[in-house]
Amino acid sequence: MPQSVAPPALALSGGTPVSAKPVPFMSLALTPDDIEAATAVLRSGILRQGARCAELEKRWNELTGSRHTLTCANGTCALQLAYEPLFKPGDDVLVPAWSYIATVSMVVARGGNPIFCDALPGTMQIDAADARRRLTKRTTAIACTHLYGMPVDIDAVQALARDAGLKVIYDAAQAHLATYKGKGLGAFGDAVTYSLYATKNLATGEGGLVSTNDDALARQLGLLRSHGETDKYLHDQVGYNYRLNDIAAAIGCSRLNRLADQTAQRRRNADRYDAILARVGGIEPPARTPGAEGVWHLYTARLDLGRVRCTRDEFCKALGAEGVPTATHYPRSLTRQPAFRAVVKDHPPVADALSQRVFCLPMHHDLSDEHFRVVEEALHKVAQAYRV
Ligand SMILES: Cc1ncc(COP(=O)(O)O)c(C=O)c1O
Repeated sequence: MPQSVAPPALALSGGTPVSAKPVPFMSLALTPDDIEAATAVLRSGILRQGARCAELEKRWNELTGSRHTLTCANGTCALQLAYEPLFKPGDDVLVPAWSYIATVSMVVARGGNPIFCDALPGTMQIDAADARRRLTKRTTAIACTHLYGMPVDIDAVQALARDAGLKVIYDAAQAHLATYKGKGLGAFGDAVTYSLYATKNLATGEGGLVSTNDDALARQLGLLRSHGETDKYLHDQVGYNYRLNDIAAAIGCSRLNRLADQTAQRRRNADRYDAILARVGGIEPPARTPGAEGVWHLYTARLDLGRVRCTRDEFCKALGAEGVPTATHYPRSLTRQPAFRAVVKDHPPVADALSQRVFCLPMHHDLSDEHFRVVEEALHKVAQAYRV
């Protein structure tokens, strides 16, 4: 009888880690060009929203196929700006149960009633069929997140919006330069919002963008962004100060020069991860929306809990000890957020189950062959240790 070889001890239990040096989870370093672009603004002494913001807006239109883009203070402000003209307090707004909180909290801030819709189990994007079932007489809008950088099924959402007469807001905070059926995201919906937060694919520290193809809406967004000011100290309506500044915009413009190449690298990384997960087994790769090309802000896998003797958190802790950091986007569905306790009616089940299973592997443009070797070996080792 051949002796069975004991699997190597997990680093968590005192074994040797696959790599003593952790794989970097993200890559955020500025280049000398980025620093020079920001320094040039500092040297000019003109720090307010100005030429660099205008440049970023113009280039974003060209890259995403939108007619108007406005820079703003962050992705949350971008949502707030877009929501205010597109639905009224008291309206029902279809929202994903599986997203970052801002997509929905800004609906509530506007006085809208969020109607939480379930996620598709494979892509984890909003389930348009479930959204259709949840329509009410008071539903006037749908807000969808292109979560993790993967576009939602835009055809299904647009068909629903057409049939029910809904406004559509796409939260593309994680989806810079994603495409759907060969078109940039600016081609779809009434408004598209982006975040330029420090860890996003395009990052200026804090920052946001809101795009639309509607001239009147663009004018309205501009007014809301800056105190409804139509002439110097003449305020036609109440608005906010949600402007970006030129230091941040200069960094955005400089980083934008590299974004297409970095996105291509992220796509190659996602293909490599898909292949690795197929070899490891017991972990499902994120499915891709037909017709969409995602930009892999996050690569979010799902642990098959029926094939392991551990929780997702234990699995991730073991991976971390082997040198592979992970993140959980997200540990609970939005209907489980205490902030929404007054507006939740039910807990859509797919979104709820995802919260127990998802984990994100390192994803950025600087992942090397050695990093992939470490991730694959660690995944095999941890999966083998916990397999039922
Ligand atoms: C899906 C989504 N929506 C909105 C936001 C809010 O963007 P910001 O942090 O720039 O306000 C984020 C940022 O994390 C996000 O991931």
